[in-house]
This record gives sequence, structure tokens and C-alpha cells, in this order.
Amino acid sequence: MKEASLVLDEAASDFRELKFRVEKFEKLKRSSCPGTDWGPSILQSSDHRRPHALSWEDFEVNEISFLIPFIRDDVLIGDAYALAEIVKDDPTNNVPDSIFSKLGLQLHRRDQHPLGILKNAIYDYFDTNYPNKFDKFDGLSPIVSVKANFDDVLVPADHVSRSYNDTYYVDSQTVLRCHTSAHQAQLLSGGHTHFLVTGDVYRRDSIDSTHYPVFHQMEGVRVFTPTDWEDSGTNATSYVAEDLKKCLEGLAHHLFGDVEMRWIDAYFPFTNPSFELEIYFQEKWLEVLGCGVMEQEILKRSGRTNDIAWAFGLGLERLAMVLFDIPDIRLFWTNDQRFTSQFSKGQLGVKFKQFSKYPPCYKDVSFWISNAFTENNLCEIIRGVAGDLVEEVTLIDNFTNKKGMTSHCYRIAYRSMERSLTDDEINDLQWRVREQIEAKLKVVMR
Ligand code: PHE
Repeated sequence: MKEASLVLDEAASDFRELKFRVEKFEKLKRSSCPGTDWGPSILQSSDHRRPHALSWEDFEVNEISFLIPFIRDDVLIGDAYALAEIVKDDPTNNVPDSIFSKLGLQLHRRDQHPLGILKNAIYDYFDTNYPNKFDKFDGLSPIVSVKANFDDVLVPADHVSRSYNDTYYVDSQTVLRCHTSAHQAQLLSGGHTHFLVTGDVYRRDSIDSTHYPVFHQMEGVRVFTPTDWEDSGTNATSYVAEDLKKCLEGLAHHLFGDVEMRWIDAYFPFTNPSFELEIYFQEKWLEVLGCGVMEQEILKRSGRTNDIAWAFGLGLERLAMVLFDIPDIRLFWTNDQRFTSQFSKGQLGVKFKQFSKYPPCYKDVSFWISNAFTENNLCEIIRGVAGDLVEEVTLIDNFTNKKGMTSHCYRIAYRSMERSLTDDEINDLQWRVREQIEAKLKVVMR
């Protein structure tokens, strides 16, 4: 009898995903060696310091927790994600298939991908400056509770980011995380005092070359205890804020070399004071990260009443687009060899050479909006039909008539990064976009 094992991360996904992957694995096993007498699969943790067998029967359905293992993408590469397996029938679910299909792809864990290369370069900085200090997490499930994503980081009950227009809800208590800060409280409570969390984050948004509803962030947190600042002669908050700024300026130099930078005061519900770091790059000030001194309440709730901490969150695409000269955020998702073959492990800042650009095609659509109309909903419909063939959606005309009816006209730019689109194809896309807008947005077409 043969044995096969499936390597799992110690990090998380939900139960149904796990079950789906196990079943897929079982099938794969049988089809690759027909006739073999296979024993049960052994589920192993990829963390070899903690080898243990796991069985999905041990887990409760719907238990979306940090402890449920997530199967690594290098085990079953490119496997279709269990779209139908996730609670999709909940009336509050606003996650379209185009987003579900991104779950589990984990671009940030590919060493040859610009996002993976950047993640590793940031790891190098922390490993050099704080040897063996920072715990790294890059496989935590993006499916988190509303509590983790918002409540635990003190996001007010009426904050816009909680709305269905801004955030993807799996059900009323569960979201696709909209920032990696969703893991702060859980990791602090778990006893971690220095950590980096990298992951895919999800936000409903408009469409252009720098916005995509899925992107990647890295969160950093460092906790200080009273002995750290007592002898410094300054108060705890200034001590920690200084340390934070020094650390991040060092990181910016590590990534960008000798650049000019500036600190801007900012607001985040979870830090006070809060700052944004901007760097001067190609004649523009570019916001690269948000950070600050963690709100005392978060530490207190995780049992660290006397401690103080800093936290930062940075957007990987933002940085990678600049470092690698990547002109369009959709490129991160392409499997086109002309893109993927240009990057290799450990090579930060190799400049991307644009392959032939195919012509864009513009189509306009006008309608009378209703009160419930939002641009995010419109963009989601267009993406749902055209996927990554849509490059940009711009409001080009907006007026209100004497009867108080407001008309919007949007220009949709269709362009493939891989090939020329035919007229028929674009007309068909536009036709379906119009149909869907009319059916789903309750607007009156003009
Ligand atoms: N979570 C913030 C964002 O997504 C970034 C941030 C993280 C700011 C940690 C401060 C501290 O914009």
C-alpha cells in the first residue's frame, strides 16, 4: 500500500476549501497511478518543526480560523478554487466569481513574481537589521471575521470602509480582509511581539491602471516593553514613533536607494499618532505606506497593558510598479510568458520591458442614475463581463436635467495586454455590459 501526503501550511483557510483540496488531491493521486492501492492521505504541516497529521474531519464546518491549514499553491498549482464551496447563497454575499477566482492564488508567495521578489527583499531588510526577531506570516486566510477586520482594530461602527459598497462580504459576519491589519489583534493575543504579515487584500473599487479589487499588503508590528524606553529620557510614544520612522526610512533606502522622502500626518483608527511616508520618485511624491503608534486599547485587549507598539501597512503593488516599471496593475495577474519570464528570484528592480501594446478600444454608455447607484457597483459589473480586458472606466459626462434626473456617461477602455481584440468581440462585451447594467443597477439606459 502506498502513502501520499499533502503538505499544508500552518496558516489558514476555511473548512470547505480544505475539504475541496483534499478531495481533489485524492482524485489526482488515483489518476496519476491507476491501479495503485493507496492508503489514506496524510495531511502534513509544511512547518517541519511541528510535524503532525491532520484530518479535515476534525474541523467544524464554517470554522474560519487561523488554525485550519491552508494548502500550499506549490502542491496543487493552479487548481481551481472551490468557488461553489464557499457560502455563496447567503443573501449578504457580494463576492462575484471574478473575485472568488483570485482566492488562493497567493502571488506574493511566488519567488519569481515581482510581488514575491519584493516581499523577499523586505524580509531581507528585517532579517539583516533585526536578526531572528520578526515572525513572518504569508499564508493566513484572507477570509476573516468582521470582528477581526474592523472591530479588533477599532474601526468605528459607521466607518465607510464597512459598507457593502467598499468591502466584500462572504456573509454578514465574514469578509474578505480589506487590509492585513485584520491579523494584528489575533497575532498579538497569540504572543507575537515582532511580526510581518503579507497577504492578498480585497476592496471594491473603480477601474484604472493602478486600481484592482485584489492587491497585496504587508503589515509590520513591533511591541516594546517598558524596559525598552525607560532609560531613553523620552516618553514611550515619542520613543516608539522615532523608532518606527527610523526603521521605515531604512527600508525605503534599502528598496529605492538614495531617495528623498517626507512624513505626512495621517489618520487611521488603529494608530495614534499616524503617519504616511512619501517618496519622491520620477518627479512625483508617491505615498508608499501608512503607519503609527498602535492604539493602546488594542494592546490592552490582547493582554499587554504596559506595552506599546508600532505598526505599518504597505501596498506591494504600489511599490513594485515603481521598482520594476510595471505600467498596469493587471499585469501582476497575467500568465503571459512575456511578462513572467522577465523576473527572477532575488532580482529586485529589474526594469520591465513593455511588449507590444495592443490598441485600446473605447465604448461609451449613458444612463439616468438612481439614488442607489455607485461607481463601484458599475465597475464590478463591467469586470464581471470583461474581466481583465477592461483597462479603465471614466466618467466623461454628468448632468442633472430640470426634472432633477441625473445622467452619467462612462467611457470604457477595453484593451488586452496579450492580443488584439476584434470588433465583434468588443461589441459583444459592450452589449453584455449594457444588458447587465440595465438588469442589475436599476438605471434607465439612454
Ligand atoms: N491598514 C492600513 C491601510 O490599509 C495601513 C496601516 C497599517 C496604517 C498599520 C497604520 C498601521 O491603509
